[in-house]
Amino acid sequence: MAERGKEAAYFEQDRSADVVLGRIGPGADPRLREIMGVVVRHLHAAVREANITSDEWMTAIQFLTATGHMCTEWRQEFILLSDVLGVSMLVDALNHQRPEGSTENTVLGPFHVSDAPRYAHGDNICLDGKGEPLVVRGRVVDTAGRAVEGATLDVWQANEDGFYDVQQKGIQPDFNLRGIFESDAQGEYWFRSCKPRWYPIPDDGPVGKMLTALGRHPNRAAHLHFIVSAPGYDRVVTHIFTPDCPYLPEDAVFGVKHSLIADFQKVDDPARAAELGFEGPFWTVEWDFILARDNELDAAS
Ligand code: BEZ
Ligand code: FE
Repeated sequence: MAERGKEAAYFEQDRSADVVLGRIGPGADPRLREIMGVVVRHLHAAVREANITSDEWMTAIQFLTATGHMCTEWRQEFILLSDVLGVSMLVDALNHQRPEGSTENTVLGPFHVSDAPRYAHGDNICLDGKGEPLVVRGRVVDTAGRAVEGATLDVWQANEDGFYDVQQKGIQPDFNLRGIFESDAQGEYWFRSCKPRWYPIPDDGPVGKMLTALGRHPNRAAHLHFIVSAPGYDRVVTHIFTPDCPYLPEDAVFGVKHSLIADFQKVDDPARAAELGFEGPFWTVEWDFILARDNELDAAS
């Protein structure tokens, strides 16, 4: 017969999470112990609350297996899963509390590349010539409105067909719709591009199937991505959204924040279009990025 004192370690339905957590050894990292405590308790509670059947649990395991199999150098299906469940936005929000008025973060997404070309002010990043022409201009300033000189603005966006260049290698020109600009002594920047349009996140894998099963679409509200950074300031990973996109209230990855919706104006002025090298009407958007200094962050959290 087994020793009585050891029975606390045997599985019991009513205290299943405690039994599992009781196995964590004394040498485990305290933070890992804390996180696994929360995760295991919530997981056991979810299985109990939803009365998960054996078939349902196997479906979940097969879904996670397929999610792993979908991952490649260019496809991170687990990040996509985190995005569509709103977890990426929650983790970002918890970790980027900034002073009131500073530019807010949103989701990074999988299509940033680290070696985009550097451009001069006014250059056109739209290399495939598709879409409605757009001029983006504005300033990078600190929370007191003072110019931030030498800030790096790393921008990328999908093309008129709804794809990033890295999704269409050999179809779009390399580095289409991406580039790096620098703010001048007045904090100013400007460049030419095309008006972004909404597009679906990659939905040919398990995450896409899950969205369909949930009656959800995969579409992202139209946006330009930016990473804006300068020495001594908190790096901002953000978007500018167009105000007329039907998917603003139902962005597939919950990336829309009210403060990131810009005012895009259509300009029908042949003389100005000619000055800018455009053939017809074009769009303009003015957008300032407000950076918080590193030493302003503690006060905000
Ligand atoms: C994007 O905006 O590029 C994106 C964000 C999350 C998932 C997929 C794409
Ligand atoms: Fe995007």
